[in-house]
Amino acid sequence: MTDAHAIDSLGWERRTFVPSDAFRSNALVSDHSLYEEASQDFTAFWAKQASELVSWSKDWHTASEWNLPFAKWFVGGELNVSYNCLDRHVLAGKGDKVAFHFEGEPGDTRTVTYAQLLDETQRFANVLKGLGVVKGDRVNIYMPMIPEAAIAMLACARIGAAHSVVFGGFSAISLTDRINDAEAKVLITADGGWRRGEIFPLKHTADEALLGTPTITDVVVVRRGGNEVTMQDGRDHWYHELMAQADPVCPAEPMDSEQLLFLLYTSGTTGRPKGIMHTSGGYLTQAAFTHKYVFDLHADTDVYWCTADVGWITGHTYIVYGPLANGATQVMYEGVPNFPGNDRMWQIVEKYGVTLFYTAPTAIRTFMKWGDHEPAKHDLSSLRLLGSVGEPINPEAWMWYHEHIGGSTCPIVDTWWQTETGAIMISPLPGVTTTKPGSATFGLPGIGTELVDESGEHVERGGGYLTLTQPWPAMLRGIWGDPDRYRETYWSRFSGRYFAGDGAKLDDDGYLWLLGRVDDVMNVSGHRISTTEVESALVSHPSVAEAAVVGALDATTGQAIIAYVTLRGGFEGDEQALRNHVAVEIGSIAKPKAIYFTPDLPKTRSGKIMRRLLRDVAEGRNLGDTSTLADASVVNELQRRAAEAPAED
Ligand code: WT7
Repeated sequence: MTDAHAIDSLGWERRTFVPSDAFRSNALVSDHSLYEEASQDFTAFWAKQASELVSWSKDWHTASEWNLPFAKWFVGGELNVSYNCLDRHVLAGKGDKVAFHFEGEPGDTRTVTYAQLLDETQRFANVLKGLGVVKGDRVNIYMPMIPEAAIAMLACARIGAAHSVVFGGFSAISLTDRINDAEAKVLITADGGWRRGEIFPLKHTADEALLGTPTITDVVVVRRGGNEVTMQDGRDHWYHELMAQADPVCPAEPMDSEQLLFLLYTSGTTGRPKGIMHTSGGYLTQAAFTHKYVFDLHADTDVYWCTADVGWITGHTYIVYGPLANGATQVMYEGVPNFPGNDRMWQIVEKYGVTLFYTAPTAIRTFMKWGDHEPAKHDLSSLRLLGSVGEPINPEAWMWYHEHIGGSTCPIVDTWWQTETGAIMISPLPGVTTTKPGSATFGLPGIGTELVDESGEHVERGGGYLTLTQPWPAMLRGIWGDPDRYRETYWSRFSGRYFAGDGAKLDDDGYLWLLGRVDDVMNVSGHRISTTEVESALVSHPSVAEAAVVGALDATTGQAIIAYVTLRGGFEGDEQALRNHVAVEIGSIAKPKAIYFTPDLPKTRSGKIMRRLLRDVAEGRNLGDTSTLADASVVNELQRRAAEAPAED
């Protein structure tokens, strides 16, 4: 970041936005009582939320058990997560309430009520049982953004099978790896889904993945794209055919509070993605709590829309489990924000009268680029609250969101959390917290945050490392198959506490400002991609001898992936071929924005690649002292090439 930037953001920091009287008078929370209650006894606070927000078929005997770093919540309690998301609303007479207003990219729509969602979920749970899936099994899901994705997840929850959803943009190789790591029995996918006016052929990619997945016995295929697919006899089944024959009743079986609900793979600093484990009672409690209070959900009147994909944690917690547990009505949209026009999102907001809107800074910056006139074409006056997630939101984007989407009246909740935390941890409460553009403000009630320095000492003001000081109900329970890596990754850097991997600073008023990752993890459009993973993908190409990957600041995507590559003798550098190779190895989201070919990489005398230096080069900063470099001329060459590179796509 340049100095001018820093001064800019200091200027912004002085702006404050107090919750309006109009918002406060109708808000679920408008004073500090929740914070006070939680600070007395956070375990008792969460226990109260668990009894208020979740229906249990058997009470727990111990609210929380903490054997650092392993936590259990609501021990001895039993519940069924799908019962909480479906049956209890139907039993309460809300069967006709809309769960999803589904909007397909081509413009087709479908209204799914809670009663219909329950019906399909029960049938599909029976389908899974019929395929031999039993409690404790893993089921992989590789789907477009259609209601069947949620149905598949809920059906797994109903019978105690853990789902592992893989984002539809990941490659066949990535899908194979995740299926094999989880040892999944069944894969649920679709023929294809719509994206920017075209079909992306999911089943085709899945077929490729399935060549290397010995544990998969059956594949269920939802017809969505209508594209041609090959169905393998005995293994592949059409969803609609199985559903037509399925028993409509599948009672919700009580599960232990600590029953594994799902695995979700995410990138870390080393090559292999980690299967983050989330369980049932604690996760559902915090998902429901945060969805209700951070978004000030009035379930009877609000229309909520989270634009994430179910393949990410945001989709799990804030499309499926949180909103459905709270009986919310939501919009689910299949496609991209610029099809058929750049105003698609605003057209949908107007069409369904969306009141609560949750999206990512990278999307907001894209909307800014498309121009103020796009949202201005539509009546957005139904909106009453806006949310942001995935990366730090820069003050300019915050202000634009506030003015052009929120009509200068909607509070904005900037929500910090991670795949590992399972639910929102740091965020304003919209009827309580005075916000500052760019600050996620404070830890939520029941959450312990602390900034520490390099040596773990408390930081009162200024920059430091963000840590979490106490267990929370939705916390990850481990990394699938690798308890040592769990301890090592999250609990070893600072003793007794969880290290998130993020830097942050505290201003004079005690507000938290997230500064991004401090490790070798990039944040591209709100998605975590590890530098090592992209490097391994590049090095697996026959032309590449060595590769170094850095995340460079990017005006739209937050960070952009920049690769420096040295070639093997006799090979020519082919940037496009390498970008495609990464897309095949990992998925399109991991394609480097630029690849620079260089005769050597800058290394320290001990042979470590100087990534920080490469990042400076990629971001066009002065290089300062490079005397530790084995070969300083390499850096000059790298810098020259970076300066010549085209500025933006
Ligand atoms: C990383 C977690 C949580 C769902 C989406 C991403 C960054 C997330 C914010 C925010 C600043 C944020 C952090 C975090 N991040 N939200 N509001 N302000 N940074 O989940 O893929 O697990 O990534 O996203 O760096 O560690 P994820």
